[in-house]
Order: sequence, then C-alpha cells, then structure tokens
Amino acid sequence: MSAADLVARAESVAREGAEAIAAAGSLDALADAERRYLGRSSPLHEVREAIKTVEPAARAEVGRALSAARARLEELAAGRRTELEARARAASLVAERLDLTVGGRDYRRGHLHPVTRIWRELEDVFVGLGYRVAEGPEVELDWYNFEALNFPPGHPARAMQDTLYVRLGEPEQVLLRTHTSPVQVRVMEAQRPPIYVVAPGRVFRRDTLDARHSPVFHQIEGLAVDEGITLGDLLGTIESFVHALFGRDVRARFLPSFFPFTEPSCEFAMTCVFCEGSGCAVCSRTGWVELGGAGMVDPNVFEAVGVDPERYTGFAFGFGIDRLVQLLYGVDHVKHLWDGDVRFLRQF
Ligand code: DAH
Repeated sequence: MSAADLVARAESVAREGAEAIAAAGSLDALADAERRYLGRSSPLHEVREAIKTVEPAARAEVGRALSAARARLEELAAGRRTELEARARAASLVAERLDLTVGGRDYRRGHLHPVTRIWRELEDVFVGLGYRVAEGPEVELDWYNFEALNFPPGHPARAMQDTLYVRLGEPEQVLLRTHTSPVQVRVMEAQRPPIYVVAPGRVFRRDTLDARHSPVFHQIEGLAVDEGITLGDLLGTIESFVHALFGRDVRARFLPSFFPFTEPSCEFAMTCVFCEGSGCAVCSRTGWVELGGAGMVDPNVFEAVGVDPERYTGFAFGFGIDRLVQLLYGVDHVKHLWDGDVRFLRQF
C-alpha cells in the first residue's frame, strides 16, 4: 500500500471509530468500541505495522496521520465516558433512593390561647410602668377575699359576689376567690410600701353561663401604695394602660361607684373600639365599654394589714381579662374561650 493509501485508511478508521464511540450506549459498549479501534487488534494497529512497507521518506506522514487518528479517538472516548458515567450516576441515584419520610403527618405548631396572650400583654404594659407581678391562691380565706377588704360579715356586698364555698375548715371560711382583690391584702401583709404590683389570675363566681358571664373568668388587679399617691395618679395610670393597649385615640372615662375597699370608688370605661365612640351593638349604643372598678384604698384596709393610713395613700383597680379579649377579637360568646375547640383557637 502507498503512503497515501495508509493515510486514507487511518482517516477512515478514525471516522468509523468516532461513530462507534458516539453510538456506545453504555460503559461496557464504550469499552468494547475502544478495544476495537484503539486496542492491539485494531485496524490502526495494522496501519502501524504497514508503515515498514512504505518508502522511508513518506513514513513520517503516515505516522502523523496515525497519531492524529489515535488522539481524536482517545479524546472522543474520554468525553463519551464522562457522559455515560454521569448518566449512570443519575440513574443509580433514582434507583437507590430511599423514602425516609416519617409518618407523613402535618405537625401543626401551637400558639398561646388568646386569654393567655392578653394576660401577658397586660403584664408587659404594667411591668413597663414599673409594676411587679404578684400571685395569690385561687382557694382563699374569707379574711382575704372579704373581711380585710372591708366587707364585714353580713355586708350586703358579699351577697352580690355569688361566692362558691369550699367544704373545708369552719363553715363559709374557705372559698374560691371571687376577685383578684385578696392579692392586695396578701401583698400588703408581706411587704411595706412603696408597693406597685399587678395580680392577674383566675376567679370564680356562682354565675350562669351566658354570652358575657362564665363561672370561671380572669381578672387583673393593680395596687399602688406610696407617700402622696392621689386620685390623679389612678386616672393617669388607667389612661396610660388603655393607650398602651389600644392606642392614643382611645379614651378612658370614670364614673362614681361603690366598693367597700376603696373610697372614693369609680367604674372605668374606654371608648368602644368597634364604633370609635359613635355607638354600636357592642357598646349598647353608648360609645363606651365598661372595663372594671377602681378607687383610693380605704383606710380600713390599711388598718387591717398594718399600713399607716396617715403616712401612705394608694389606689387599686381591677378588671376582667376575658371581657377585654372578647372586645379585642370580637368574640360573641365567652364559652368559646373555654371550649378548647381548635377550629376556634386556630383563628388567633
Ligand atoms: N374586685 C372588684 C370586682 O371584682 C373590682 C375592683 C374594684 C377591684 C375596685 C379594685 C377596685 O381593685 O379598687 O368587682
């Protein structure tokens, strides 16, 4: 064969080999094509053997064609190998995939009950005003719930409280506290003025359940005792808590009232947040919603706990937390706050 024939042969083998490499559909098929076109028994090997038969001057040309053909095939084979390996890896990832999903359930994250949320917000507001949070027992003695608060035995205001008594000790001496006011007495017994505390908690009354009353509900009590405390301090404090919770546009209103443990006493209300004071169903067209009671601590209460009424004055206030929650979220019946029905609670 002439040198030109050998060069042509090398080139045609390279073309054929290129096609075989491109057509190899697996790593095995590629190895096979490499063996056929680059291995010992490949047609290129025959061309190499045939070099000896051409005249020496032309051998270099055939040699160059041969190495170009080899280099091309090696490069193509390497490229094809990379492709096939990637494809095999992807296939084994799919084939060997394990489903490690646990249970397949939707674990919903819980949140605070709306009453707890407002309870904590109230604490935050008063802590911000310099108050401390105090606690008292839910099962209480008559002394703390009534007597020390200037409700003498047989006082008509006791009947108004619809007390639930506990069969323990002397008759009618142990009860479920009807308000958070007994915590005032406990705090003043335990601590000398200056006193600035709030006491949130559960209270109990013999009430029939309706849209706004439940036999168990929550109140928050406030007590400030110091030298020179005035009614003005009380009004300002209530107003700032109302502003902190509802914003500056909401106003507080005070009307004279009566409680045995405060003198003077008042009831306080705030602008109805639904109609902004113009009158609606929520506020019975008055533009105001009642929040609770307040007043200047009665000197008889100071006497009962041994605080000098000549030196100290103080104010106290108390109001329902559930009522506030109903107002804030537009809850039409208190029972929703007690049912624990997740369809209701999920809305908050
Ligand atoms: N304890 C009263 C009640 O449950 C509310 C109250 C009124 C609390 C006047 C006070 C107060 O501290 O000064 O109806």
